[in-house]
Amino acid sequence: MARQLAAITGASSGIGEIFARKLANSYDLLLIARRIDRLESLAAELRARHGAIVTVLAADLTDESQLATVAEQLAADHTLGLLVNNAGFGTRGLFWETDLEAQQQMHQLNVLAVLRLSHAALRNMVPRKAGAIINVASVAGFVRRAGSVSYGSTKAWVVAFTEALYLEMKRIRSPVKVQALCPGFTYSEFHDSMKIDRMRIASRAFWLRADFVVDESLKALPGGRLFVIPGWRYKMVVNLISSLPLPLRLLFESKASRAR
Ligand SMILES: NC(=O)c1ccc[n+]([C@@H]2O[C@H](COP(=O)([O-])OP(=O)(O)OC[C@H]3O[C@@H](n4cnc5c(N)ncnc54)[C@H](OP(=O)(O)O)[C@@H]3O)[C@@H](O)[C@H]2O)c1
Repeated sequence: MARQLAAITGASSGIGEIFARKLANSYDLLLIARRIDRLESLAAELRARHGAIVTVLAADLTDESQLATVAEQLAADHTLGLLVNNAGFGTRGLFWETDLEAQQQMHQLNVLAVLRLSHAALRNMVPRKAGAIINVASVAGFVRRAGSVSYGSTKAWVVAFTEALYLEMKRIRSPVKVQALCPGFTYSEFHDSMKIDRMRIASRAFWLRADFVVDESLKALPGGRLFVIPGWRYKMVVNLISSLPLPLRLLFESKASRAR
């Protein structure tokens, strides 16, 4: 049987790169990010190792016309079996103090690109009654924190968006699966880009390997689980925070906001 295509945004490093490495065994790949040199060398390695057809697409997903090109490609490829909306970034500092343009770009990437590419992929997958979407959200989508106003809001949007899509797929009895992958702190380039000292924000016990995060996601995909929260500590945090009455939640979030 011909292999299906897995499209991965943000495949040039971190969690996205690990998705590419783990999926190359069973899918052909479309790798999307801005750093084309990184994508090319990963693609060459995966072609040689797995015999997969690996295509790379250099795109800045905050750019409307480049995003449209990616969306058109996803809508047109009838072998599309999986879309991983993974590209994302955060910024440091209090919302009012930080550069507005960076906050807007974050919404364009973490929200609008996910919206646009999910729409293109579902238009393709739903009529074919096949396929899956993994949206990389975050534990930050469940816990508000000072210093993470835009990032937490964009990830809360991904959580809500994916949950509602899940309900739509159930309502139309579609076999298309949607998953919100919600990692906590994960070793990748994410915090390096923000020049954040990892050990200053959380003890070692809270840091996850991207390998583990991706394994948890892919393990849960065949069963169609909506929320994947890798690691027992983070499952506890999310369950606790989600079950607290609002005043207690705010107290918890205020303490967490002061801790860093
Ligand atoms: N690391 C964590 O602690 C953590 C925790 C929870 C959730 N997450 C989420 O996990 C996802 C992956 O992050 P990561 O931890 O793997 O960080 P990362 O190593 O920094 O990877 C981010 C990826 O996004 C791509 N990207 C950034 N801006 C882009 C743009 N404008 N257009 C296209 N691609 C762009 C980057 O590629 P280029 O620079 O080559 O474009 C890179 O491949 C993100 O959505 C992040 O919010 C991370």
